[in-house]
Amino acid sequence: MSLVSAKGMLEKARKEGYGVGQFNINNLEWTKAVLTVAEEKQSPVILGVSEGAGKYMVGFNTVVAMVNAMMKTLNITVPVALHLDHGSFEAAKVCIEEGFSSVMFDGSHYPFDENVEKTKEIVNIAKAKGVSVEAEVGSIGGEEDGVTGAGEVADPDECRKIASLGISMLAAGIGNIHGTYPENWQGLDMKVLKEIGETTNEIPLVLHGGTGIPDAMVKEAISYGVSKINVNTECQLEFAKATRSYIEAKKDKEGKGFDPRKLLKPGTEAIMDVVREKMDLFGSSHKA
Ligand code: 13P
Repeated sequence: MSLVSAKGMLEKARKEGYGVGQFNINNLEWTKAVLTVAEEKQSPVILGVSEGAGKYMVGFNTVVAMVNAMMKTLNITVPVALHLDHGSFEAAKVCIEEGFSSVMFDGSHYPFDENVEKTKEIVNIAKAKGVSVEAEVGSIGGEEDGVTGAGEVADPDECRKIASLGISMLAAGIGNIHGTYPENWQGLDMKVLKEIGETTNEIPLVLHGGTGIPDAMVKEAISYGVSKINVNTECQLEFAKATRSYIEAKKDKEGKGFDPRKLLKPGTEAIMDVVREKMDLFGSSHKA
């Protein structure tokens, strides 16, 4: 199957009351892990690519080529969207041109009117190519690709306005944070999320900062209209832990060098376990 826009899979998820995972990819191993588990679980999936990860993987064009080739060779039959995560205005346009099937234009740091204007322009360009667009209102806290945001709860009125611009899904800040949550975290603002969910015309909502949110809170958020949940840090942490254990166990043989394929295998398998667990939690398994 070729790449699809995220619109259809998220509208189905919203209607049927489950969430589709966006798992960020950074290299070949990450990509292989996520695609393999999506097929195994018969789950739709979204591959997230930050601008930094895109650069690391030698450009968005390389990412598109790698993902398309891998899907063909692995014979992936489930719906897969390739999505720009937290894109700038320029990067969103490049990704639409290069063959991404979905983009996030994150205009949350602009004055609201400018966010509206720029989002509209991206929607117009994307529509012509059948590419889905995610917009953001109210910033997500924490660090993402070296940029740290304080986090800000979205204004439901602004959400309504952005949701009416023809976007496919809406990310609203509701106290969620990228990275791990601090001990004194107050939890998601369910009151605001519920209001946004009730007044944005059934548009699929996006929950960023999926690492470390208690399972019950994730399920409650899904019940209010969250249909896409982004997970990145948890894969990184599990990858690092498994890789460290492998190196520790093989330390005495270090002088002989490490076969990179063997070195990366435990970490890749650890990512697969995270993806399996999340697909079951979000309820997307067997929904392809
Ligand atoms: P985490 O890194 O907290 O899992 O969040 C990922 C994310 O929201 C990517 O946009």
